[in-house]
Amino acid sequence: MPPAGAGRGGAVRPVGAVTRGTTTPNRLRRVDNWIAATCGDLLRDAHDPLVVDLGYGASPVTVVELRARLAAAVRPDVRVVGLEIDPVRVAAAAPAADPPWLVFGRGGFELAGLRPVLVRAFNVLRQYAEPEVAPAWRTMTGALQPGGVLVEGTCDELGRLACWLLVDATGPRSLTLAARLSTLDSPATLAERLPKTLIHHNVPGTGVHALIRALEEGWRDAAPYATFGPRQRWRRTVEAVRAAGWPVLDRPARWRLGEVTVAWPAVAPPGDSPVREPR
Ligand SMILES: C[S@@+](CC[C@H](N)C(=O)[O-])C[C@H]1O[C@@H](n2cnc3c(N)ncnc32)[C@H](O)[C@@H]1O
Repeated sequence: MPPAGAGRGGAVRPVGAVTRGTTTPNRLRRVDNWIAATCGDLLRDAHDPLVVDLGYGASPVTVVELRARLAAAVRPDVRVVGLEIDPVRVAAAAPAADPPWLVFGRGGFELAGLRPVLVRAFNVLRQYAEPEVAPAWRTMTGALQPGGVLVEGTCDELGRLACWLLVDATGPRSLTLAARLSTLDSPATLAERLPKTLIHHNVPGTGVHALIRALEEGWRDAAPYATFGPRQRWRRTVEAVRAAGWPVLDRPARWRLGEVTVAWPAVAPPGDSPVREPR
């Protein structure tokens, strides 16, 4: 495996900027479990099952967890490379490496010349300006193996509320909202964790605003089901949203985990256009 930072054409200048490094153990468990379930076949079928976690922060703990979860749930030979643009954080992560399965290196949106099948970038783009998002997606998806995907999103400090996008070479495919149901007051709180590309568009008249309102109304109407537990209440909520015509992509097995995934066109901001034509 080429060392991160010196892949396809030798030395690569990392694309991006150092930002806050806040992270916490187990914070990304929701998205990791979703990746294992939803992208498992993509990883299983890959000739080179390489995954990049971009922007892991002040501690490599969430990269270690990603590798462990994918190795247990998808395939034991999955290789995970944690890339960070901050060299101090790269050096700090070195003791956690377990080559060749888990390594750390310096890199940015260009992915250090690596060619992964999947990239997870969590709580990275939220610290950039909105116009920087699409170019960053383009750079990352342009470095993927054919058919590869980017999972880009945001969560709260403890990972109780999380939102993420599945992005491929053509642009975003879906939006997933996920919450710890036992502490969820209202689906409206998920709005604070929307990915950068959507958070400023959560205003009346947009798809994402309408989706959050539909979830709120569904949650309110499903209040009587709370006596059977928050999972039953969420299930009723998602069923109501789907019955109202929202393009819900996932099945009840995911809903019981506090998730809902909808097709991107339903929530795309006004004027959204594909990142690029399919390869
Ligand atoms: C808030 S931390 C997120 C840590 C972890 N992913 C999580 O969700 O807990 C964001 C990290 O992304 C890094 N970062 C920002 N832009 C980057 C880029 N273009 N390439 C690689 N790392 C980047 C920052 O240096 C910072 O350490």
